[in-house]
Amino acid sequence: MRVLSGIQPSGALHVGNYMGAIRQYIDLQRGNDAFYFVADYHALTSVRDASKLRGYVFDVIVDLLALGLDPEMATLFVQSDVPETTELAWLLTTVTPMGWLEKCVSYKDKVHQGLSADHGLFAYPVLQAADILLYDSDLVPVGQDQKQHLEITRDIAERFNHVYGETFKLPKPYILDTVAVVPGLDGRKMSKSYDNTIEIFDDPKTILKKCKKIVTDSTPVEAPKDPDKDNLFQLFKLFAPRDEVLEVEARYRAGGIGYGEVKTRLAEHIARRFAEPRERRAELVANPGRVLEVRKAAAEKAKREARIVLDRARKACGVG
Ligand code: TRP
Repeated sequence: MRVLSGIQPSGALHVGNYMGAIRQYIDLQRGNDAFYFVADYHALTSVRDASKLRGYVFDVIVDLLALGLDPEMATLFVQSDVPETTELAWLLTTVTPMGWLEKCVSYKDKVHQGLSADHGLFAYPVLQAADILLYDSDLVPVGQDQKQHLEITRDIAERFNHVYGETFKLPKPYILDTVAVVPGLDGRKMSKSYDNTIEIFDDPKTILKKCKKIVTDSTPVEAPKDPDKDNLFQLFKLFAPRDEVLEVEARYRAGGIGYGEVKTRLAEHIARRFAEPRERRAELVANPGRVLEVRKAAAEKAKREARIVLDRARKACGVG
């Protein structure tokens, strides 16, 4: 199956990104024809600094490679290395009713958060539809927040097919496992916009410092605690091996375990989990030529695929 997803380049990845999405992208590279791309055209709706954007794009590539994305198995490319995307977006935009975009929750949220209400932000879902349809994608793994964009993608594809004849394959959403919603340092969902993250590639000292900041209640060490109500324990559960989770859980219920101990152990587990990727990342950063090679090879492959679908769409609607 052709699996495809896009990742917005917006700075350092945190462990919530890893548990919520990236880990699953990496799993999906096995047994599928996976295409993943860095959505830099989309990022232009929020990043307005060329060197920053270039840096973010480079970071996503090295982060994913370091975390185990294998360029022999998956195609990891940069959206703007395939400018065919924007042409398809235009063709699609001509069959997209305003009303579909006006009801997009994500547009309203972003404007509410302070992004400027530019046409690019408004048309964001059409560009996303182009990303998906351009590669005849079967399956699009995304978080719950992207479900509406996928519905619009299908609607646009159906409308184009209806107007011009069968052109696009209808993709299926694959909503990522939400059991893995990761709480942040303050107990809310881990998110850059809440400033409550632990970065994947932080060094062990920084990880420990951040873990110490995890908000807990003031139950004394001796008192029994409810593990289900404690976000520190929720994090611990995600990163510690099963026997340790059971041990700590029992001690929560019995009393006698302090949050400080759990924080230290959590920090060790996070640091250990990402120790190897951290080393691999350092090697990649020291060798940007290798990263560029991966980027170029993937772009060529993606472009070849994109050309086929774009030509089909151009022919169907009578341009060129
Ligand atoms: N909008 C997605 C997000 O913010 C990123 C994205 C862009 C995407 N194009 C895509 C995801 C195509 C899946 C398929 O997470």
